Amino acid sequence: MRILVTGGAGYIGSVVTEQLIESGHEVVIFDNLSLGHMEAVHPRSTFVRGDLADRAAVFEVFDTYPIDAVMHFASNTLVADSVEFPFKYVGDNVVNGLNLLRAAVEHGVRRFVLSSTANLFDKPERMPIDEQERIIPGSPYGESKHMLERILYWLDRTVGMRYAALRYFNAAGASVLRGEQHEPETHLIPLVLQVALGQREKITIFGSDYPTPDGTCVRDYIHVMDLAQAHILALQALTDGSRVYNLGNGRGFSVLEVVEMARQITGHPIPIVMGPRRPGDPAVLIASSDRIRAELGWNPRFPDLRDIIQTAWDWHVAHPNGYGK
Ligand code: UFG
Repeated sequence: MRILVTGGAGYIGSVVTEQLIESGHEVVIFDNLSLGHMEAVHPRSTFVRGDLADRAAVFEVFDTYPIDAVMHFASNTLVADSVEFPFKYVGDNVVNGLNLLRAAVEHGVRRFVLSSTANLFDKPERMPIDEQERIIPGSPYGESKHMLERILYWLDRTVGMRYAALRYFNAAGASVLRGEQHEPETHLIPLVLQVALGQREKITIFGSDYPTPDGTCVRDYIHVMDLAQAHILALQALTDGSRVYNLGNGRGFSVLEVVEMARQITGHPIPIVMGPRRPGDPAVLIASSDRIRAELGWNPRFPDLRDIIQTAWDWHVAHPNGYGK
């Protein structure tokens, strides 16, 4: 298939592209490089620099390349940022997604995989969180993904768009060549590894009074390569209908456990300081991925936190100053 990957220069999009190409697909990347990195773009992909806000540019991609399916990663993705700048999320994320969807529909494309998020579940009643859980977005970011899921639901019913919405919990880890680099970096694992590289003095723990065993937040870290595998399986399954899946390992690790594992892997003491809670952080987020396991046979290859952090560390050691520096 020829797949249009928006955000293919970003963290998850670039690793998914790598696996798509290794599986024999052709990939057209559409990315404005505002958050992504040219060095992350796969050399065997076709790269188009463009912005999803530019509807004409989006239509031109579909006019130029016969696209069979879309994987949509390009997005603003930070919960706290979305609270500060709601229009960037319930505005740009949604409008840009609509430009993409309209172009896809008008060009006869009926396969779509959406990067969605655990931030749909702000007040989960059950842990681990399965797909039956009531959706209560935790921020304008989560709401933007929810809106895109709803738009896809209606496009399925009205024009036969077959879609998969993959709600990622905490993506982490790296492939050999592609890893996690955001500017500014806000994510726990890359920040901890920057301390180990001597680029930061310490890591601040955002809250130690949560109702969890050690008082710090618990998250479900999932290897980006396992996420990539889920995308490929979901794409193949679209012929049998649309679907939504929660994607995690089903195991939670506290912030302190992540730091401790990083200490073991890197051999660095990684100093910590306790700070206040970060607004918008739920205490515990753990996914139930039973549905995707049962329906698609998805089986994570790197479920261990050790492997996840080790691959991230290997990538950081190979790219101490990030891509291209
Ligand atoms: N944390 C710290 N110190 C830091 C950075 C993070 O203690 O310097 C903590 C956070 O408070 C949180 C955990 O580490 O408890 C993980 O934080 P991340 O920022 O790495 O990830 P989040 O869980 O906040 O965010 C992830 C995805 C989002 C998604 C969200 C759903 O990155 O896209 O899960 O809640 F929306």
